[in-house]
Amino acid sequence: MAKRLMLVLLLLCCVTYSLCEEIQTYKLTRGNLSVTFTNYGAVMTSLLLPDRHGKQDDVVLGFDTVDGYKNDTTYFGAIVGRVANRIGGAEFELNGQMYKTDPNEGHNTLHGGAKGFSDVIWSVENYVPTSHITFKYDSFDGEEGFPGNVTVKVTYMLIGENKLAVKMEAKPINKPTPINLALHTYWNLHSHNSGDILSHKIQLLAGKITPVDKKLIPTGEITAIEGTPYDFLEPREIGSRIDELPGGYDINYVIDGIAGKHLRKTAIVSEESTGRKMELWSNQPGVQFYTSNLLTRVAGKERAVYKKHAGLCLETQGFPDSVNHNNFPSQIVNPGESYLHVMLFRFTAH
Ligand SMILES: *[C@@H]1O[C@H](CO)[C@@H](O)[C@H](O)[C@H]1NC(C)=O
Ligand SMILES: *[C@@H]1O[C@H](CO)[C@@H](O)[C@H](O)[C@H]1NC(C)=O
Ligand SMILES: *[C@@H]1O[C@H](CO)[C@@H](O)[C@H](O)[C@H]1NC(C)=O
Repeated sequence: MAKRLMLVLLLLCCVTYSLCEEIQTYKLTRGNLSVTFTNYGAVMTSLLLPDRHGKQDDVVLGFDTVDGYKNDTTYFGAIVGRVANRIGGAEFELNGQMYKTDPNEGHNTLHGGAKGFSDVIWSVENYVPTSHITFKYDSFDGEEGFPGNVTVKVTYMLIGENKLAVKMEAKPINKPTPINLALHTYWNLHSHNSGDILSHKIQLLAGKITPVDKKLIPTGEITAIEGTPYDFLEPREIGSRIDELPGGYDINYVIDGIAGKHLRKTAIVSEESTGRKMELWSNQPGVQFYTSNLLTRVAGKERAVYKKHAGLCLETQGFPDSVNHNNFPSQIVNPGESYLHVMLFRFTAH
């Protein structure tokens, strides 16, 4: 009898609090692309790509086990939110009310707080191993200080033989709230454990940046980068002028053209020795270009030790700290409206 009661209670707990949500791994394969995931943080844990001779390498940094991701401070491959990037002073005002978010980086909030979307267990809604997987998370009112319930879905989809689409959707249920999601993959097109990305060439179709202060909080300015070390309007080696910057690249670029529903070409990255090339399109106004300046001997998968500049991140998103800058595109989404962020990657090797 007692046992039965326990069972009923346990079941109730599971249903109510999703305590029974298991952490698992998933795989999508199609054409020459093979990608793995875990529902912890909706992380993309590996991505295998052929080089110009057909040799497959894993081109994203990560860990061998899910425990690695639980322990992690790098956000390798994770979906970050509710608000990606930084919120200055860990607070913002919305409709006359102040909201205080979790100050997990000094006085500021980074990537949604200490237990953001990268550190929660997502459920799996839809999984077709030859095509796509959808992860879902119900974010609650007050989570890391953010207002209102929000339903979040992320779909990874393989298209054709060499394309990966990532669709991030979110719907606020009962209160207006800022929403800004990003996929925090660290790429190294040579292979995840091949050293640094300084000889990769990158082109960023973005003529402006949002400069930041010493704590990496935007000053509110939007400045042209032509001729500066930030200028990647023409393809150029990442390392060619990196020494002119403190630490390396960690800045939001304003993608050229008009933001909206349509996908715009954002970046092209290529690696000469393998011939691999990655092109990225997105519907977002900005892209954070980060050259893993803060990595210090992180123990990664296959016994890799990731050091400074071991990977590059291209996190398409809204502008950082938009909640505190009226001149930046708004990230406020109201109940009844929805947030949609699309990334499209095309991989080739020649
Ligand atoms: C897939 O890889 C094979 C072997 O390297 C190659 O012949 C083929 O062209 C590739 N397909 C695509 C779409 O890249
Ligand atoms: C977790 O982090 C601690 C301290 O950085 C480290 O000693 C430990 O090996 C890590 N565990 C895993 C599973 O990565
Ligand atoms: C918001 O989420 C909480 C906890 O998940 C739930 O109890 C509550 O009913 C939700 N409210 C609405 C309006 O959906």
